[in-house]
Amino acid sequence: MDKFTYLHNELHSLKRNNLFRRCVCIDSPQGPTVHMADGSEKVLFCSNNYLNLANDSRIRQSAIEAIDQYGFGATASRLICGTMTPHEELETAFAKFLQKDAALYFPSSWSANQALLTTLPQKGDLVLIDRYDHASIIDAVKASEADFRTYRRTQPDRIEKYLADGKYNNRFIVTESVFSMDGDTANLTELVKLKNKYDAILIVDEAHSVGCFGQTGAGLCEQEGILDQIDIIVAALGKAIAATGGIIAGPKTLKDYLMNKARPFIYTTAPSPVIAAAALKSLEIIQAEPDRRKRLNDNAASLRKQFTEMGLSIGNTTTQIIPIIIGDSAKAVDISKKLFEAGFFLSAIRPPTVPPGTARLRVSVQADHTQEQLEELCDALEKVLSS
Ligand SMILES: Cc1ncc(COP(=O)(O)O)c(C=O)c1O
Repeated sequence: MDKFTYLHNELHSLKRNNLFRRCVCIDSPQGPTVHMADGSEKVLFCSNNYLNLANDSRIRQSAIEAIDQYGFGATASRLICGTMTPHEELETAFAKFLQKDAALYFPSSWSANQALLTTLPQKGDLVLIDRYDHASIIDAVKASEADFRTYRRTQPDRIEKYLADGKYNNRFIVTESVFSMDGDTANLTELVKLKNKYDAILIVDEAHSVGCFGQTGAGLCEQEGILDQIDIIVAALGKAIAATGGIIAGPKTLKDYLMNKARPFIYTTAPSPVIAAAALKSLEIIQAEPDRRKRLNDNAASLRKQFTEMGLSIGNTTTQIIPIIIGDSAKAVDISKKLFEAGFFLSAIRPPTVPPGTARLRVSVQADHTQEQLEELCDALEKVLSS
């Protein structure tokens, strides 16, 4: 028995239950197809590179120019000497893009959610979160001193009951716009109505929506014409924008407060200025090239239709995230393995990422997938599922 036996035992149990996870290494830039470290080529169906900007030559060039001008490292936290011109330019651009007074840039959207939800809601406050909100939201509200409750989207009366509870000082509603594992969407108009009625603060995490929806690509809130009514937007930069980091956009007071109080902002090294410069170029492209959104959404609609005709269980998705619900973890892993052998990379998503009994293949579509690639995926799925 060594000191780490308990870890070994837990890992063994994960393996026995088909819940053990490992990294699969890609050895090429990311696009609709990738080269794996083992030398094989796969059609990629599990990345968040929705708009195919991860290897865009103009963004690469921006990164090269930024590295020549600023070097690579920011060397300190933002409040010491880590704030550089690309960080400020990115924040200014995002504030305008998301129609807010100010924006603050974090190393990841995980840390943005941590900062926001452990700092803003305080003792005596109430935070309502959707049952299917992302782990970064759940962990943050657990770490907050405020009370929190989870709600089901199908029960707006329950949300209203919580909001009507007079014992709280401030009330917050936190939702994703496009849910990351199901591809369905929040009822944003309903939430806006409720937050107005009860003077609550509405926070929308647009991680899987920024770039993909809305006339300028600002997200689902823009598409639904309610962007100006959302108090705070969180935007991940690691998905359609194809950089890394997270943005919180809202009132200027919020930015000043977070800069002064949020530990995940204060006590971490600033992201590289190279990434900030690349993200800014990506944002410019997203606004200037609406055709990428159109191709993405056309591809997604086409694949949803084909899956439905095949009788696959894809839940209520209306977006580029299309879950194929399998149920059993072992079966989901087996299907994913067989698809990989057939040339398609889409990983099995298992508990605790999704509820027990709902293991799935999370198919994510890209703007540059060809119709042929979508059809080949359907053919391969049909073969694997009937074998
Ligand atoms: C809804 C949502 N919020 C936040 C995050 C965290 O983003 P990041 O990868 O930038 O930490 C994710 C990503 O996985 C997400 O899906």
